[in-house]
Amino acid sequence: MRIGIILGTRPEIIKMSSIIDEINQNKDDCIIIHTGQHYDIEMSKQFFTDLNLPLPNYNIGIGSNTAIKQISIIISELEEILTKEKIDIVLVQGDTNAVLAGALAANKLKIPVGHVEAGLRSFDKNMPEETNRILADNCSNLFFVPTEETAINLQNEGINHKMIHITGNTIVDACNRNLDIAINKSNIEQLTNFDDYITLTLHRAENVDDPIRLENIVNSLVNLEYNIVFPIHPHTKKSLVDNNLYEKILNAEHIQITKPLGYLDFLYLLSKSKLILTDSGGVQEEAITLNIPCVTLRYNTERPETISAGGNVLAGTKEEEIRNSIANILNNKDVYTKMAKAKNPYGDGDSSKKIYEIIVNSFKNESIHIKSSDEIIDFEGYYLKKIEENITVREFEEKYEKHIIEQIFSNNLPEYIDENTKLKDKTIIVKKFK
Ligand code: UD1
Ligand code: UDP
Repeated sequence: MRIGIILGTRPEIIKMSSIIDEINQNKDDCIIIHTGQHYDIEMSKQFFTDLNLPLPNYNIGIGSNTAIKQISIIISELEEILTKEKIDIVLVQGDTNAVLAGALAANKLKIPVGHVEAGLRSFDKNMPEETNRILADNCSNLFFVPTEETAINLQNEGINHKMIHITGNTIVDACNRNLDIAINKSNIEQLTNFDDYITLTLHRAENVDDPIRLENIVNSLVNLEYNIVFPIHPHTKKSLVDNNLYEKILNAEHIQITKPLGYLDFLYLLSKSKLILTDSGGVQEEAITLNIPCVTLRYNTERPETISAGGNVLAGTKEEEIRNSIANILNNKDVYTKMAKAKNPYGDGDSSKKIYEIIVNSFKNESIHIKSSDEIIDFEGYYLKKIEENITVREFEEKYEKHIIEQIFSNNLPEYIDENTKLKDKTIIVKKFK
């Protein structure tokens, strides 16, 4: 099997790393295509070194540009690469421009697409990432979702439950595989000024491209009575400099700015933090994986499981709200302990194994193949049904051959659809074909 991995930014390299390992260990062909969206050594190459990955087979080299230019160049370059390489399945991860462009290009070439970390929704279309993930899911065939909540998002959008697989999140694989290595190899402890500190990351476009929000966040940081270590994203540094805010942080003695860190250094830094302050997606997941309370500098999150599990709070971006959220955790032992003990919703670190096995099985049983029009039977409509008999999802769909369950409601709440889910006393929405 020839598996094409499309990636472009540091979180994609980190979250794809265990999948690349899995493919290579099983001696399938893994063709890595880097879009070049992140290009500084510390935003890209460092992660290939830290995670012991083979270098990309291709680098499209799009660099920094408008989203439209990046997406259009990636799509047209991928047409040539994917065709020449005779790729059997394309894997994309997350919600960056590489994901949208990769999924769309593969879809147009009729190559199946597996979306790793599919189904996340913030329901905030101001975020470029929200449109990317919705459109990428529309172009995908296999959906590797981290949790039941994310699976339900896809079910609500009409995606066939048979193609949705709960696999956990590969960030846990990355954390588990690299934490001991990081503890042994990293010397970041010697480079940090403080023993007790908050780790801060900040780069979301809606925070750093909005001068008022950025100033509010900076004010909250400079007036905070805790130490902060701040590995700075190049986008953020640029915005801070452009808005005359960089010096303000630099002059605050309790804040240490570092360059963007490699994965081993960053993981080590995170693991020793008292608290994590972030607007990053991946860092919210790492916080709960490492049992460290997280304060998120946003008004919504596509990772609501971290909040409902009790490990994360949304602080927004206003000065007082941020300071209060942090103080409420750090000045209250019970709150702190409860947050640190929140159960990780993202699995046990075996996501990449599960994802690889699902891909292999989907090829074996041909469920992945893109059907020709004469194989698609005509859609008749939807119906709602209250189930009174003792029957599972699989039994129902075998009994009513051309009926596919689209949603299940139990006590008025949507439920994840598993083949073995029992339907008695539940209400279902069914898609019926002629
Ligand atoms: C991108 C993703 C975002 C993801 C983040 C991970 C999209 C729409 N955004 O945001 O979802 O969370 O990566 O970090 O795909 N820059 C450099 N060197 C680099 C890369 C970027 O200096 O190696 C600077 C450039 O000034 C560039 C800016 O950062 O214009 C923004 O980079 P870009 O890749 O467009 O977006 P990110 O903010 O990194
Ligand atoms: N990260 C890193 N060095 C840093 C900052 C972040 O290695 O200086 C890692 C972090 O461990 C996480 C990933 O980058 O796995 C998150 O990437 P980012 O916050 O840039 O993007 P997002 O997850 O929000 O898309």
